[in-house]
Amino acid sequence: MTNEAKCIILVGYMCAGKTTVGKALAKKMGRTFYDLDWYIEERFHSKVPKIFAEQGEERFRDLERRMLHEAAEFENIVLSCGGGTPCFFDNMEYMNQVAETYYLKATPETICSHLKISKGERPLLKGKSPEELYEFVSQQLQERSQFYEKAQHIIDVNVLDNFDKIDFVVDEILKIRGLKD
Ligand code: S3P
Repeated sequence: MTNEAKCIILVGYMCAGKTTVGKALAKKMGRTFYDLDWYIEERFHSKVPKIFAEQGEERFRDLERRMLHEAAEFENIVLSCGGGTPCFFDNMEYMNQVAETYYLKATPETICSHLKISKGERPLLKGKSPEELYEFVSQQLQERSQFYEKAQHIIDVNVLDNFDKIDFVVDEILKIRGLKD
């Protein structure tokens, strides 16, 4: 595969804006957008929260790794991963080998403000009060950062406080790519 066609992968914590930015980036580049959670759901005819509830997180992580290996091989796509994808197995090393990787970096404050308006169901965050949520997100982000930071590029997405700013983040990525090509 040529470097030009390599899959672009977005990593980062839940609700950092991976899907939103990924869709906009794909559109602007004329690429197809994939979301790894949706890909898993389509391939296994089951929703992520259901897989977690019925088969457990370990099984989900195994499916996630296998589906990552399928999707990341596609050419000319933008793929947004689940928040946990880079933190299991050698997934982050694998992504860096086969794709171009971007960490969408957000603070716990930004993530919690996005979570308030997000409609997606997230098994790891279910049933938490706003205070518990902030505590959990801060702690887990700290643990996960070491994996996310291995991405080839880091993009600050704390500007993503409203939807006008999506283009700003997309342009940041395009600028990096322009410098590279
Ligand atoms: C997870 C993030 C979710 C989904 C699953 C687990 C995580 O994806 O894969 O609920 O461990 O951070 P999003 O980051 O797209 O919400």
